[in-house]
Amino acid sequence: MNITVIGTGYVGLVSGICYAELGNHVVCVDKDLAKVETLQNGGIPIYEPGLQELSVKNMAAGRLSFTSDLNQAVKQSDLVILAVGTPSLPSGEANLSYIDQAAAEIAQAMNGYKIIAVKSTVPVGTNERVRNLIRSRTMERFDSISLPEFLREGSAVQDTLHPDRIVIGADSQSAVETIVELHRPLTDQIVVTDIRSAEMLKYASNAFLATKISFINEIANICEKVGADVTRVAEGMGYDKRIGPAFLKAGIGYGGSCFPKDTRALIQIAGHVDYEFKLLRAVVEVNQDQRMSVIRKLETIFDGELQGKTFAVWGLAFKPNTDDVRESPALEIIQYLVRSGAYVKAYDPIAIRNFQSMYGNNGVMWCDDALEAATGADALCLLTEWDEFVHMDLKMLQTILKKPILIDGRNVFKEDDLAETSFIYYSIGRPRLDQGAKEEMSALSD
Ligand code: UDX
Repeated sequence: MNITVIGTGYVGLVSGICYAELGNHVVCVDKDLAKVETLQNGGIPIYEPGLQELSVKNMAAGRLSFTSDLNQAVKQSDLVILAVGTPSLPSGEANLSYIDQAAAEIAQAMNGYKIIAVKSTVPVGTNERVRNLIRSRTMERFDSISLPEFLREGSAVQDTLHPDRIVIGADSQSAVETIVELHRPLTDQIVVTDIRSAEMLKYASNAFLATKISFINEIANICEKVGADVTRVAEGMGYDKRIGPAFLKAGIGYGGSCFPKDTRALIQIAGHVDYEFKLLRAVVEVNQDQRMSVIRKLETIFDGELQGKTFAVWGLAFKPNTDDVRESPALEIIQYLVRSGAYVKAYDPIAIRNFQSMYGNNGVMWCDDALEAATGADALCLLTEWDEFVHMDLKMLQTILKKPILIDGRNVFKEDDLAETSFIYYSIGRPRLDQGAKEEMSALSD
C-alpha cells in the first residue's frame, strides 16, 4: 500500500518504519523541518533500540521517506494515518488541536478515495470529529477508522512487529478488509469493533495496566508494614491465569508519555458524561504518592534531616531503554530533595540531556558515570532499573559511598547481592534484606 503517516513522534515514527518493513511504501510527514532533515539523513530523534537500522534499511530499499510536504504525501497515498500528539491540557483533557489541524490539511489534499486512520490516543468521538471536519471541506470519498497503537517505548519495534493484537474500529466493511490485509503478516489476533469501542478500548487498556501497578504498589506498602515480601506475593498471584504476572512489579510508580496522560484523560472523558471514575482517581493518587516512598525511607534513615546531605540518584528516564523523561518519578524526587536543602548527584546512561531540559540545573550535579555520582554520597537512590545498575558490584560500591545506604526504588537487588556487604538497604514492599537488619531482627527475637 501507499501510506502516509502524519506525525513522527514515537507512535508515528515506529509505525511508519514498521509498515515500510512489511513492504509498503511509506511517507512520514512532520512539520518540524530539523526533525525531517535528521530522519532523511538516517538519524532518529528518539532513542529506540533497532529503529535506526530499520529506518536506514527501508530508506535504502526505496520504501520509506520523510517530508514536511503533507499535501504531496497525502495525494500519493491510499491510507493516511494520523499519529500526531494529543498532550494533556491543564484540565487533564486531551488537546486535539494537532488532530484538527492535520485533518484540515488532509481535506485540502484529498484527490480521490482514501482511508483516514487515527492512531493517536484520542477521546471517544474524535474519529467522528475528524470525519465531520474532512467531510465539511471536501467532496472526495473516504472512510475513517480508529487504529489504536499499543507499543511500549524501549521495545516499540518488537511490539509493533509482534503485537498481541491489532484493533480496528470501523463502520465500512471494505476499509476493514483493506486494513486487515495490511496487518495480516503481523498477527491473526485482529479485533474489529465499531469506532467508539476501539477508541475506548485503548484508554481502558492503559487504565487497567496503570491500575495493576497502583494495586501492587499499595500491596507493597502494606507488605512493608506486616513484614511480607511483595515480589513473592506478586509471583504467587501471577500464576493465576485470571491475574497474570505482567505489570505487578512494585516500585516508585508509573511515568512516561501514556499512562499519566491517558488516565487523566479517561477521568475527564467519564466526567463529561457525568460519571465519576472513582477507581481510576485512586489509581492516579496512589501513583503520585508512591514516588514519595523513596523520600519517606530517606527521612526515616536520616531522622527527617535531609538538609546538607548529598544524595546520588541513579536513573532519570521513566523506565530503562529509553531517553524519555516525561512524567518520570525522578523529577519529583529530585525536586523534593533539592527543596529540602540536599545536594543531588545524578546519573543516567542516556537521559541526562532530556532531563536537564525539563528540570533545569538547580541544585543538581550531573555525572558522567554511575560511580562518579555515588562517590562521597550519604545515600544512593536507584530510580530506574538500567542494566548497568542491576549488574553493579555492591562490594565495590559500598567503598565509594560516604555511607553505605541504598534505597532501591525498583527492587533490583536480591539478598545474595547484599551478602558480605554492610549496606543499609531499603527496597519497595520487601523486608530489609541487609545483614545489619537481619542481625537486629535476630537480636530482637533472642
Ligand atoms: C505504555 C503501554 O504499555 C503501551 O501499551 C501504550 O501504548 C503506551 O503506554 P510505555 O509507557 O512505553 O507503554 O511503558 P511501560 O513499559 O508500559 O511502562 C510504563 C510505566 O509503568 C513505567 O514507568 C514502568 O516503570 C512502570 N511499571 C510497569 C511498573 O512500575 N511496574 C510494572 O510492573 C510495569
